Amino acid sequence: MLDERKVSFSGVQPSGNLTIGNYLGAIKNFPEFTEKYKCFYCVVDEHAITVRQNPAELRRRTYETLALYIACGLDPEKNTLYVQSHVPAHAELSWILNCYTMFGELSRMTQFKDKSAKHADNINAGLFTYPVLMASDILLYQTDVVPIGIDQKQHVELTRNIAERFNQVFPDTFTIPEPIIPAAGAKIMSLQEPDKKMSKSDENENAVVRILDDRDTIIRKFKRAVTDSESEIRMSDDKPGVSNLITIYSCFTGKTVSEIEKEFEGRGYGEFKLAVGEACANRLAPVQEEYRRILADKAYLESVMKKGAEEAAYYARKTLSKVRRKIGFVNL
Ligand code: TYM
Repeated sequence: MLDERKVSFSGVQPSGNLTIGNYLGAIKNFPEFTEKYKCFYCVVDEHAITVRQNPAELRRRTYETLALYIACGLDPEKNTLYVQSHVPAHAELSWILNCYTMFGELSRMTQFKDKSAKHADNINAGLFTYPVLMASDILLYQTDVVPIGIDQKQHVELTRNIAERFNQVFPDTFTIPEPIIPAAGAKIMSLQEPDKKMSKSDENENAVVRILDDRDTIIRKFKRAVTDSESEIRMSDDKPGVSNLITIYSCFTGKTVSEIEKEFEGRGYGEFKLAVGEACANRLAPVQEEYRRILADKAYLESVMKKGAEEAAYYARKTLSKVRRKIGFVNL
């Protein structure tokens, strides 16, 4: 039977130990789409090699990221979970869309500017054309919604522009996707430099809380979080450290900002930070337990990868053969 549901697509790079930013901004929200949407969630290993990776670590993290998807509530029977490089159509469409993307557009991508500053010795062409591969990921599945954190919004906007440009030449080829950005948690900030995004590649381990950090580590990192010289627990632009902690606490407890401000009225930062650490550790404990159980079963993970790749390839092939026909390639 034809699946008439709208499509949700998202991806996470297996390029480091994932953070609570990845969790709150993206992964935690993926299962919400499972029933209403046809869902594809991809471990984007091809994106990860735009910066140098240790091969053994990349392979291990690919398994780990898939295990984490499942541990965070994505049922492989109801969602298509797979690894990007298992579906060659991503790379194939990416070449075609490269020819429909402008040099100037790619030059404006802030992530490219940031990453090329950070990896000045390796500004490779893949780092530059990375957003085209991301557009291909999304457009291959005729995606309607893309759940992401704020830092990926510019890439989805570029995806829309590429799709619209292509559709203008070849009408009705691609669905135009919408980014879905959570109201809270779309940009979790560093615990040490709260004007900077929390990033899995941060060299300062105290700045980042990992999904798999143990309870003591989580509580210690929150205790050391940078705040300010006042003592008031209040959401405000001039209190980026405290505001970030309020956001994190709100995401993990479901309490609203004003409930939190009231709860901690007249209480100090020390008490507040401990509460944030405990709430975070409590929420992550069952995810970690489930993760360990799943990761131990490599054969199971490989069966999920295989089934996911076959399902994804089926849908990807449909779009790719349409594109090939439209642009004038011979389909045999
Ligand atoms: P990646 O692997 O850097 O991050 C995965 C997801 O986590 C979100 N995120 C955050 N959200 C809130 N606060 C933070 N500090 C934070 N850090 C990361 C990201 O916004 C993202 O949603 N290019 C993508 C992967 C990708 C993709 C795609 C995503 C490839 N193809 C197609 C969607 C659709 C990336 O590097 O995400």
